[in-house]
Amino acid sequence: MKASLWVANGQVVTTVGHSTSPQVGPALGEVLRYTDGHVLVDGDKILLVTDNYAQAKAMCDAQTEVVDATDRLVLPGYVDCHTHLSFAGWRDHELPLRLAGRSYLDILAAGGGIISTVQKTRAATPSALLATVLATLDTMLLHGTTTVEAKSGYGLNLETELKQLCVLREAGTRHPVEVVRTFMGAHALPPEYKNAREEYIAIILDQMLPQVAAEGLAEFCDCFCENKAFTIDECRSILLRAKALGLGAKVHADEITPLGGALLAAEVKAVSAEHLIHADREHLRAMAEAQVVAILLPATSFILQTAKRADVKSMLELGVAIAIATDYNPGTSPLPNMQLLQSFACFHYGLTPAQAFAASTINAAHAIGRAKDSGSLEVGKQADVIIQKAPTLDFVPYHLGVNLVESVIKRGKRVVNKGGCMYG
Ligand code: NIG
Ligand code: FE
Repeated sequence: MKASLWVANGQVVTTVGHSTSPQVGPALGEVLRYTDGHVLVDGDKILLVTDNYAQAKAMCDAQTEVVDATDRLVLPGYVDCHTHLSFAGWRDHELPLRLAGRSYLDILAAGGGIISTVQKTRAATPSALLATVLATLDTMLLHGTTTVEAKSGYGLNLETELKQLCVLREAGTRHPVEVVRTFMGAHALPPEYKNAREEYIAIILDQMLPQVAAEGLAEFCDCFCENKAFTIDECRSILLRAKALGLGAKVHADEITPLGGALLAAEVKAVSAEHLIHADREHLRAMAEAQVVAILLPATSFILQTAKRADVKSMLELGVAIAIATDYNPGTSPLPNMQLLQSFACFHYGLTPAQAFAASTINAAHAIGRAKDSGSLEVGKQADVIIQKAPTLDFVPYHLGVNLVESVIKRGKRVVNKGGCMYG
């Protein structure tokens, strides 16, 4: 069989053999390195990964597109497994307030925070939202992200939640970055239901979830399990209904207060639990047993300047799978860059560069049910490959804030070249 594309002579780094279960404990960050490596692609799939030049060359002919990766790092595309991508209403005006000591939950309770973004998102036209999402996907792609998870949750009514999810679906058909959709109607209590929270929960259960499931608008359902957001019991009923309708469960758990969201995630066998800054060690143990992936969001911790950090040490000891994500959103993380995110994972959360890499690729793919297709450079997987101007894996988080990505290949097609988009 001949290759359609040959990434030649690069330093290839990937995890191997973790497409059915994520890397946990001491295995997190185990990678295979080919100093002089080659990735051969057939159509949209990986045909071969080798350090044997003659073998690689024999699979190519005059039609094969050659991408020279000499002195470059060749990695699987990053999987950003937790974002709130589709919104209108940046909240830069909250930065001085937070720096002056106002807490995130106080701003929310006073009608700011998520609610102020909800008002702008409700008012935005689908085409305006779509334009913003496509522009953000460009930025993400230029920084090496080839798959992104994206949540609704800035609508908090049926019409706008559906609008956000439809925009995300449309964006996924127009843009090379693959968009995995999550419904998050339980992100905040809408102001019009301030004194009728049961009614809003009933709308999520009886109207939003059935319609989202019937129209195939989301694969997952997430909820913000937190004081001033939604209780354990409310989240449980939402996630169980979502699961009954065929959606996977996710939980924003123990982010600001130790409410027990991690334990709930284990109980409902969620695919992932997010944030986990205050998660109890025994609840983490339950997550390990239930095989719930921990999605850590270290940039959010940095931006909110939280004194406490997620208990990475216990997660590693107990065998909880760790993924990391940007949490891209207008309130707590306006960060689209998975390279810088890895810097936060290393400098703020104490991961090694190799652990941060695995948490951004194969484990992140597990956190959104994409590990059979994405997250590593292995034969038969989607050819999602990034080429970075870096001599080692350590170089990436070390050079914080610099975009080292030169080329991106998504499903076998070159979509970024010399740091610029080249699709469409
Ligand atoms: O994951 N914590 C809740 N949701 C987001 C923030 C959303 C916002 O502030 O707009 C998060 O940090
Ligand atoms: Fe989030």
